[in-house]
Amino acid sequence: MSSGKPAVRLALLGCGTVGSEVVRLLHEQADDLTARIGAPLELAGIAVRRPGRERGDLPVDPALFTTDALSLVKRDDVDVVIEVVGGIEPARTWLSESLRAGRSVVTANKALLAEDGATLHDAAAEGGADLYYEAAVAGAIPLLRPLRESLHGDRVTRVTGIVNGTTNFILSSMDASGAGFGEALEEATELGYAEADPTADVEGFDAAAKAAILASLAFHTRVTAADVFREGMTAVTAADVASAKAMGCTIKLLCLAERGPDSRGTESVSVRVHPAMIPLSHPLASVGDAYNAVFVEAEAAGPLMFYGRGAGGTPTASAVLGDIVAAARNRLSGTRAPSESAYAHLPIRPIGEAVTRYHISLDVADRQGVLATVAGVFAKHEVSIATVRQSGRDEDATLVIVTHGAPDANLRATVEDLRTLPIVRSIASVLRVEGGA
Ligand code: HSE
Repeated sequence: MSSGKPAVRLALLGCGTVGSEVVRLLHEQADDLTARIGAPLELAGIAVRRPGRERGDLPVDPALFTTDALSLVKRDDVDVVIEVVGGIEPARTWLSESLRAGRSVVTANKALLAEDGATLHDAAAEGGADLYYEAAVAGAIPLLRPLRESLHGDRVTRVTGIVNGTTNFILSSMDASGAGFGEALEEATELGYAEADPTADVEGFDAAAKAAILASLAFHTRVTAADVFREGMTAVTAADVASAKAMGCTIKLLCLAERGPDSRGTESVSVRVHPAMIPLSHPLASVGDAYNAVFVEAEAAGPLMFYGRGAGGTPTASAVLGDIVAAARNRLSGTRAPSESAYAHLPIRPIGEAVTRYHISLDVADRQGVLATVAGVFAKHEVSIATVRQSGRDEDATLVIVTHGAPDANLRATVEDLRTLPIVRSIASVLRVEGGA
């Protein structure tokens, strides 16, 4: 389709799982994209490590491949730079150069945005360029644009998300079959959900980067990955999953970003990633398999739920394409994307001040006075007990205690004190409980 207008020229950095899907969709949907934008999109070059690599039937001229990404982004005939390589360097240099030179950037690079988003936002402001990154969090799910635009008239108070598909697959599989973590991880690896080195997923680094990006947008405050409390899910056992079931709950690796007053009454932000029990009635409890979902609470809008595929070449490319269309339209009309909104400068609250609930499973002797002693430790740390359940008797009793909400520091101190009690043989598990009354 001819629009009569000169093409918007694209530089693609990276042509792996996501990049090759971007190329395919640009080709397959060329006519529709031209009609929607008002000008055609044209690839000016594709930077890759191995230009000679076999790429199947990728619909692209091999002459477009180059190993010199920096020269590509500096070319005068490039309007929009798309980065799907990942990592901090050299991506930061490529993207900062592009933005400062006034080229729009579309990136899926969550690690860079979470570690040093400020450099990119500052470069975008300096160059008067667009910085779009919808694909950096929760793949195909339109989530950042709603936070960045649709909800800008509202006040977001909390974001609770399942933003890592690999760990959601593992936990869903443990819940469905009763398998332990190791067995479920093996299954996830065989099916291609987990990478050969699953550390970034199972230890919560991937989710923490996404949590930082979400919190920054939700609370108009720069939040980095270093501000996020992170606990992985490798210690979740089949017994924890069974215990959650007995309580009418399931276990999910959650990212939680909240704003509210700290202990001194100062408005502040708390951001954390950890496994938690959530009641089956919570909208996130039914999010199974490798799906992602994010539950946003805003003062005027109330609760909102965003659900879909959080990873994979084609779903992620869908988000990248949406950003390319937006950036291309802006260039044609001489307008700009909303710039960074970080005016609130809210302080970050330490994890100790986050209010949560604990589920604690203790192996104790079933003797007179044991429960009273245990309860005394909770009282000493001003933690209120919600429920107590006992199974077994004589020398092999298990007490499962669920608390009401309390600061995490008080809950931790309670657990540490319980460990020192002679009547407590062992603490079988400690898990946070979220999303309930
Ligand atoms: N590894 C991530 C996941 C996808 O399992 O969801 C990329 O962020």
